[in-house]
Amino acid sequence: MANEAKEMLGDVFTPSPEIVANATVKSFEEMTRLADKDLQTFWGARAEEFEWFKKWDKVLDDSNKPFYKWFVGGQVNIAYNCLDRHVKTWRRNKLALIWEGENGDLRTFSYHALNREVCKFANVLKSMGVKKGDRVTIYMGRVPELPIAMLACAKIGAVHSVVYGGFSVEALHGRIEDSQSSVVITCDGSYMNGKIVELKKIVDEALKRAATVEHVIVYKRTGHEVYMEQGRDYWYHELVALPIARAIGNNRCDTEVMDAEDPLFLLYTSGTTGKPKAILHTHGGYMVGIATTLQWVFDLKEEDRWWCSADPGWITGHSYIVYAPLLLGATSFMYEGAPTYPYPNRWWSMIEKYGVTVFYTAPTAIRGLMRFGEAWPNRHDLSSLRLLGTVGEPINPEAWKWYHRVIGKQRCPIMDTWWQTETGMFMITPLPVVNLKPGSATRPFPGIEAEVLDETGKPVKPGEEGFLVLKRPWPAMLRTIYGDPDRYVNQYWSKYPGVYFTGDSARKDEDGYFWIIGRVDDVIKVSGYRLGTAEIESALVSHPAVAEAAAIGLPHEVKGQAIHAYVLLKQGREPSDALIEDLRQHVGHEMGPIAKPEKITIVDKLPKTRSGKIMRRVLKARAQGLPEGDITTLEE
Ligand code: WT7
Repeated sequence: MANEAKEMLGDVFTPSPEIVANATVKSFEEMTRLADKDLQTFWGARAEEFEWFKKWDKVLDDSNKPFYKWFVGGQVNIAYNCLDRHVKTWRRNKLALIWEGENGDLRTFSYHALNREVCKFANVLKSMGVKKGDRVTIYMGRVPELPIAMLACAKIGAVHSVVYGGFSVEALHGRIEDSQSSVVITCDGSYMNGKIVELKKIVDEALKRAATVEHVIVYKRTGHEVYMEQGRDYWYHELVALPIARAIGNNRCDTEVMDAEDPLFLLYTSGTTGKPKAILHTHGGYMVGIATTLQWVFDLKEEDRWWCSADPGWITGHSYIVYAPLLLGATSFMYEGAPTYPYPNRWWSMIEKYGVTVFYTAPTAIRGLMRFGEAWPNRHDLSSLRLLGTVGEPINPEAWKWYHRVIGKQRCPIMDTWWQTETGMFMITPLPVVNLKPGSATRPFPGIEAEVLDETGKPVKPGEEGFLVLKRPWPAMLRTIYGDPDRYVNQYWSKYPGVYFTGDSARKDEDGYFWIIGRVDDVIKVSGYRLGTAEIESALVSHPAVAEAAAIGLPHEVKGQAIHAYVLLKQGREPSDALIEDLRQHVGHEMGPIAKPEKITIVDKLPKTRSGKIMRRVLKARAQGLPEGDITTLEE
């Protein structure tokens, strides 16, 4: 590992003079100095870019750590700043969203049109009794109605909880129940890889297990037949056609005045132990943080066409498909389906067709598409691109260089952005004007203070591995874990008092560049998707043949990590290939296809501590033929 790191340190990519000349922020150092001098003035100035119903009294209130508050006393609505603010200007005629379906369907929305659709749907939600503070679960494919539903919730002050459309029954049920949602918004199905994902069927099954839901709104995407329950299920297109949707006769709906600290959304993510936790983000600070980072890091200009290839169901999509691009009045492209459908040139063909200028994706996708060879991208004119980005996991230098050479034609700097569901916004990231080292996310964004600590809380020496922490609050930070403030404190603020613990390990080199290594907890990153061992294990244990299960992540060439599971069968159950396949299918049914273990091994014993905790670390070491480390707590 040490040698590999040294090798990587060898390459430095310097931005061209044109890029520097055109960049909005020309000096990273200057901005960092400004923020360090006075953090509150720095973020206060960023907040001035937006329309507030009432200006804040104080930028940061840190009187009740770690429950920080931002823009205290301010009144604002993020949806107002995404839509209402723009439709008052020439931007009403600008494209907000360009969407291509997997089957080639094309839909575009000007700011005017997007605002109209959001207003109509907001009126529908209101007429169903959804009020400020109510939770709404959104479980849809990647269609424009997904961001429309999110914005409609934000507009009326409801709190959305988007569940990724690749999750399945139990994952969805758990998230509906924990958030106590009374309304679920879904689709009949979604297209992926030429096949239909049966979203409505999954909702029906999840609702048999959840009692809080009164209404289900179904957007018709595929048109295949689905079950509709009388009095519970309604078609989206029928609701938005009702006179109530066009309240005030003109497709309008007033935007709710929110407190800066009022909740905007919940997003479930997996953590160290137990079930997924609901990360809570708010209207004011989140808005300021995500817009500033998108503007500076990807240097978005009025004429740009931005494409973030993530799914809106994850934080990347929340921040950088839906909210931040609209806050900046940008034009976003969104694609429904798989990158290789029908051929591995699909993404490259759309970059050419729509003239995408800034493209942001995940290392796993780059590695996956690399396998098909250069001929696929080389068939397309990719000269519109000027900046590239990655997120989700460390990018290996080989993939970085391929992306840089084959996609960016050695012209486009790559912004490797490190951040988390919890941080809401980019935290360690280059700006286009800094020197790049393939595999490093470079340095903390202005105003952010990151450090690498050893077990005792002392900074490690340059080049040494340690725990990555953040030492100052930032505006888009999570405010709490919904319904479990103690867990918020324990999970993030207790390892080192007063310091935010990221759950990642990292190194910092002599130049102050950060190199993220990976998670130090029970989080597995499969193709950049964050999954918890606990959820996978509980899906396995819910199978009638399984007594106990342990899941670990092992290195995988394309996915980064792949899930390996070890299963102890109940007495009287015989191991067989058919049973193993059945277990994989069961996990897929309960959790979703991404959680299906790569490999399941039936064992008659799991390594445990004397207190009965499974030692996944030992399983991991054994599977890779590595030393088992400290096993003094291992039971006989
Ligand atoms: C974890 C957070 C933030 C959007 C997507 C992931 C890993 C994220 C990078 C990067 C190395 C990265 C970390 C982090 N991660 N970006 N550029 N380089 N690792 O959000 O699902 O909350 O996962 O993703 O391990 O802790 P998430």
